[in-house]
Amino acid sequence: MMAVSINPFLIDNEIMNKNRDLDKVIRISIQAILLLLLSMYIISGFGITESRAIESITLGLLTKPVAFQVHNNLLLPFIIFLIMHIAYKPISKVIFKARK
Ligand code: HEM
Repeated sequence: MMAVSINPFLIDNEIMNKNRDLDKVIRISIQAILLLLLSMYIISGFGITESRAIESITLGLLTKPVAFQVHNNLLLPFIIFLIMHIAYKPISKVIFKARK
């Protein structure tokens, strides 16, 4: 009977590729959320200082009190995602042991 040999280097490569994909998905997700938070931070900030303009641009949706509430509540998530964004590279190197 012929023995089926499995090339361990092929399996290793497959895992490495999956790791790299997951690494990329996490990194881009963090960047996208940070970009969203940053945009909301800036828009709600203008919603406070330029409330008339922003209220009419957003068809009356972003009123001054709403903008104030949004702006104040964004600080914590923004800091959390900013830390994740800056710390991700060294952390991913440890987790995924990726060859970068
Ligand atoms: C307040 C906003 C932001 C600050 C202070 C900031 C800061 C930083 C810092 C310090 C790094 C270097 C980290 C490292 O290489 O380990 C970095 C890398 C990077 N940032 Fe930001 N960032 C911000 C927002 C964003 C946003 C919104 C995006 C994308 C939409 C983005 C995309 C990137 C990319 C692509 C890299 C390179 C990552 C890598 O080499 O793996 N950043 N940023």
